[in-house]
Amino acid sequence: MAHDEIVDHYSALARTALAGQRITDGGFGPACYDDTAALPDGAVLASLGCGNPVAVADLRAGETVLDLGSGGGIDVLLSARRVGPHGTVFGLDASPAMVDLARRNAEQAGTSNVRFLHGTIEAIPLPGHAVDVVISNCVINLSDDKAAVLAEAFRVLRPGGRFGVSDVVTAQVLDEQARQRAEQRIGCVAGSLTVQEYRDLLAAAGFIAVTITLTADHGDGVHSAIVQAVKPAIGPGLEIRPMREGDAEQVLAIYQAGLDTGQASFETTAPSWDAFTASRLPHLRYVAVDVDSGEVLGWVAAAAVSARPVYAGVVEHSIYVHPGCQAHGIGRALLSAFIAAAEDAGVWTIQSGVFGENTASLSLHQALGFRVVGTRERVGRHHGVWRDVMLIERRSAVIGA
Ligand SMILES: C[S@@+](CC[C@H](N)C(=O)[O-])C[C@H]1O[C@@H](n2cnc3c(N)ncnc32)[C@H](O)[C@@H]1O
Repeated sequence: MAHDEIVDHYSALARTALAGQRITDGGFGPACYDDTAALPDGAVLASLGCGNPVAVADLRAGETVLDLGSGGGIDVLLSARRVGPHGTVFGLDASPAMVDLARRNAEQAGTSNVRFLHGTIEAIPLPGHAVDVVISNCVINLSDDKAAVLAEAFRVLRPGGRFGVSDVVTAQVLDEQARQRAEQRIGCVAGSLTVQEYRDLLAAAGFIAVTITLTADHGDGVHSAIVQAVKPAIGPGLEIRPMREGDAEQVLAIYQAGLDTGQASFETTAPSWDAFTASRLPHLRYVAVDVDSGEVLGWVAAAAVSARPVYAGVVEHSIYVHPGCQAHGIGRALLSAFIAAAEDAGVWTIQSGVFGENTASLSLHQALGFRVVGTRERVGRHHGVWRDVMLIERRSAVIGA
């Protein structure tokens, strides 16, 4: 089935469920669960999965989860319970009617830490490094571009993030007759990958620690399976190198992600590349890059504070680490390299301003020789709130000593 036919098919099922009738699609569904007690009937009866990915996902309180092809939302609601009030679960589905059904089910369940998004799993409408866990239930087999789905899952996961899905796989390539027989019995078999193809595509996307566990035998070599993999954590292979023109998109995306936290700056929108580049010194801009994936994970850059010769060795810096990649030592590696490069360039004072609430940034800077020289009290308004800015600076012990 082509993508549009698939969406029409599931939209029709969703409308039936919205009308209060039971739906079924190839024999799978609620039977895969034994933990649905407190869920609304609407969510349980609309279940069209082929397993229970939540049961094996080892979700922890506070985590962010994404369910690819969330349908009526059963796995989103089950995940929401596990991650608790400080976690968030996104459900993504290409069928607007399914999104409506899922929202209604969430409302009936009284669940507030969930968000249902309309979109495709081949182009996930979330930024990179946004989620801890990707789950899915009997959806990836339907996609006509599984490589894109797995690459997108990899992109949105944080380093060290987990991929755990239920899906239909085949033990070996099925001949046409076997495929047709299986398709008549359980549907959604047509696009299934073999176990080896799944492994190869996950590895090509960058995943490691791949395991595929067959959970139910549907005959003719067709199985339900739990597929698990991990996005590698940031290893020792972190490279700090000068920022290049080609880094523009990733640098600005990290800048925006930092601004979106509300703790980085009074600014709310990242500048254009032209504006960014015009105001920063070309020889004092660095990026931290994951050498395995080539991804930019953070950046540091400096601007001159004055055109007066007396201040020639004084710069103001900004440092941004992708919010999804913090606590991996990236900020420390970037700032250390920047300080060394600045001293090589004859800089004697590096200064900046940090919101008082940004304790992580203050600790990092203090650990590398910055001191707080004062607090500018309620110096500017940010989203309507007057905020303090701590002025920090690092006086070099070697330049102009
Ligand atoms: C077999 S149902 C599974 C629904 C749900 N995961 C469950 O376990 O009940 C497949 C779901 O995936 C959605 N879907 C299919 N292809 C998709 C795609 N390429 N992008 C996003 N959603 C898709 C369908 O609209 C449908 O809701």
